[in-house]
Amino acid sequence: MKLLAFLTSTLPLAVSAVPASIESRANDATFCGLFDTTNAGTYTLFLNQWGAGGATSGSDCASITSQSGNNIAWKTTWTWTGGPGVKSFTNVQQNSGANRQLSAISTIPSTWVWSQSSSSVVADVAYDLFTSPTSGGSAAFEIMIWLANFNAGPISFHFDANGQAIPVARSISLAGHTWNLYSGSNGANAVFSFLPTSGTITNFSGDIKAFFTYLINNQGLSSSQFLITAQAGTEATSGSATLTTSSYSLVIN
Ligand SMILES: *[C@@H]1O[C@H](CO)[C@@H](O)[C@H](O)[C@H]1NC(C)=O
Repeated sequence: MKLLAFLTSTLPLAVSAVPASIESRANDATFCGLFDTTNAGTYTLFLNQWGAGGATSGSDCASITSQSGNNIAWKTTWTWTGGPGVKSFTNVQQNSGANRQLSAISTIPSTWVWSQSSSSVVADVAYDLFTSPTSGGSAAFEIMIWLANFNAGPISFHFDANGQAIPVARSISLAGHTWNLYSGSNGANAVFSFLPTSGTITNFSGDIKAFFTYLINNQGLSSSQFLITAQAGTEATSGSATLTTSSYSLVIN
């Protein structure tokens, strides 16, 4: 399922295969189409409702509320009923500086201040990054950094008797927070997911490169992999919420 998320959210060619769904409007416009996109500065907002067909009902709309330099604000209001899987991954992608080898990227400073109207949902709020062995190639690794786990859970090879994912590493200190790391597969890519050991992080400030460096040093990720996409948003499965990002920036140096 994450493969579909990747295909629809990160490959311009895949998106261009459905031109009727592409719209381009001014900032502040609200988009509700299944695969609408809009650009501001070096960012693209993707309404990637790749799993909407699995819902019995629902909708997802989003808008960019401001953008200046590397800073962008945006929000999404979604409601989904039915079906066990993710319905949408509405996200903002940094287009500048990607498609370079991890060894050639020095830092990826990012800040993300957000709030959500309800926590009684099944969803995450997370960074989602893909790497490939070749420039602009097919994804090999998906790296997720969750800032919130609202009754959802990471992809994992191993679960305990209660259905809880079992980390492959615990209590990792990165970017001023403590994380557990999960390893699994989305069917096409190896997936590494960092989740906070407790609570939610609504005001993140840190270097995303540090997560890659951890994986290179501890999980065998090759520094020759190319970072092909860097997105941040919410994977929504069920419930209703408005996620408001009052301030976001991500720069690939
Ligand atoms: C977020 O944290 C930064 C410090 O890292 C602080 O300057 C800022 O005021 C905080 N913002 C909010 C909305 O809490």
